[in-house]
Amino acid sequence: MPELIIDDIPAHVPEGTNVLEAARSIGITIPHFCWHPALGKAGACRACAVKMLEGPIKGIQMSCMLPAQDGMVVSTTDGEAVAMRRAVIEWLMINHPHDCPVCDEGGECQLQDYTIAGGHSIRRYNGLKRTHVNQYLGEQIEHEMNRCIQCYRCVHFYQEYAGGTDFGVMGRAGSVYFGRQQDGQLESPFSGNLADICPTGVFTDKTARFRARYWDYDMAPSICPGCSLGCNTVPMARYRELLKVTARRNDEVNGWFICDRGRFSNTAVNAPERPRQAQVDDEAVSMDIALDSLIERLTGFLELHGPEGLAIVGSPRMSQEAAIMAARLREVTGAGTLCYFGDVLHAERTLEAVSLLNTDNSTSQEDVRQADLIAIMECDLLTEAPMMALAVRQAWRNGARIFIVGSECRLDSGQQNLYEVGAAVSLAAVPFTEARRPLVICGIRHKGLEAIRDTAQLGVKTSFIMDGPNAFGCAMLALEQGAISFSEALAGGRVKGIISLEADLPPELSPEIRVLAAADWLSTHLTEKAEVVLPVTSWVEMDGTYVNNEGRTQHFKQVMKPGVPIKGLTPELHPPRIHRHDPPGGDILPTEKIISELLERLGAANE
Ligand code: FES
Repeated sequence: MPELIIDDIPAHVPEGTNVLEAARSIGITIPHFCWHPALGKAGACRACAVKMLEGPIKGIQMSCMLPAQDGMVVSTTDGEAVAMRRAVIEWLMINHPHDCPVCDEGGECQLQDYTIAGGHSIRRYNGLKRTHVNQYLGEQIEHEMNRCIQCYRCVHFYQEYAGGTDFGVMGRAGSVYFGRQQDGQLESPFSGNLADICPTGVFTDKTARFRARYWDYDMAPSICPGCSLGCNTVPMARYRELLKVTARRNDEVNGWFICDRGRFSNTAVNAPERPRQAQVDDEAVSMDIALDSLIERLTGFLELHGPEGLAIVGSPRMSQEAAIMAARLREVTGAGTLCYFGDVLHAERTLEAVSLLNTDNSTSQEDVRQADLIAIMECDLLTEAPMMALAVRQAWRNGARIFIVGSECRLDSGQQNLYEVGAAVSLAAVPFTEARRPLVICGIRHKGLEAIRDTAQLGVKTSFIMDGPNAFGCAMLALEQGAISFSEALAGGRVKGIISLEADLPPELSPEIRVLAAADWLSTHLTEKAEVVLPVTSWVEMDGTYVNNEGRTQHFKQVMKPGVPIKGLTPELHPPRIHRHDPPGGDILPTEKIISELLERLGAANE
């Protein structure tokens, strides 16, 4: 552990830490653009200059390029170092358009921050600025090349970290260009990260362009519901509209990045037509009236069919709180059936996978990034869990061997760019014993329980790719509560009516089965059929918990208040201008609160 002194403060850091990181570890921020914790050093921007006063190296040095060593005495405030950093900023700003007032990055721009922090305010250069023609990079990322400071972060991320081949750097000397060979949609499923890592406004999120400044956003730490991995995010909203989603660092889970599917999936949350108004027999009513009506119908139903005929049906997209309350509702009503999964195979495989995982063999994305041998079976990672494919790529970049097991494992062309693979006919053919940190990634969509059991019996770390952000949590509850899949319940022939709680069931539901109520924030065939429709909050409109595919419990916070978004000032887009205290469409509750209200009306203790 090297020991060094930075600005009179001693620092002890692990071997291999650079001086810039060592300074960060004791709370000293050295300006930087090209260095990024996940991408490493580039030595391109020269903004991180420090003065080495004592030790093996002396003089002005780039702190990101210099490994910390014993005996180093570093000054970040030395006049020469400060002058060097100031000169670099002035030089970077020579060609920068100074368009902060109209730049979408304004307020969250590293260049803006360090320019102001460094005191650069007078422009001495009177020549013409270098300019570029921007490219069309698709509907998600906006390109503004004139703002570029040639830090190379974008190309390091896109090509090296994410394996993209359609974007790179062109040109030479004082005129380099970061883009594609020609206009067109960026092909990488991780392209949205360009907006997060660009330290200026060259790449910005086009879907949220000119909608808000950083300080205008409602934001909170959250978890992506796009698959079972539970990547950490910060959704940003304004005027009840989810405008963009950014990655939130979690070294154990997603690291610094998220996939485009998680980033650009705001449409369903913002859809004005999503269920926002409680209904009874297609008539709009208040939430209170809808809940009273449901109790009345439920009482009648239970008298007619008995509790055996009732099924409480949820799904792995419910929060854990809602899933627990669904079990409580079953208990209080005496319902004959509790379901968290629609399909019997989905339920069986998820329950089996969950019962085979424990703290020793469960695998995080970080474990995957650190592995030296990975066997992938029964899954198409880019479709089912894109960030896991990115984690496998990092392992492969570090020298891990990757095996695709069996013929059922789909590998599309995008995935072929991410890592090279070897084929193995079966798990027995994978040389696990030759590796120090081997692991298996197994899908549960395509094949049966055998593959899942075989995987667990190997005694190596295992990651099961599940379906739904809270599949693990629902499976744990299903095991505890004796819940069965909806298809099994149907086959039993007892179900006469259901209460659907964010359930995903096949559309061919017999008309003989009454959908007494459907609580959901998405429009589904169940909300269309339901006698009582109970709109609920989406994950950005409430606090909650998901348990990810490794069994990690992660909380998410409310980002925005529910209600019809104010999308613009035109009558078509703006909600009705009626003087009221609550926002239109705001009379909705999280699923667990809806259940809690029902329990209260049923006279049950509500703990
Ligand atoms: Fe050190 Fe760019 S951060 S040279």
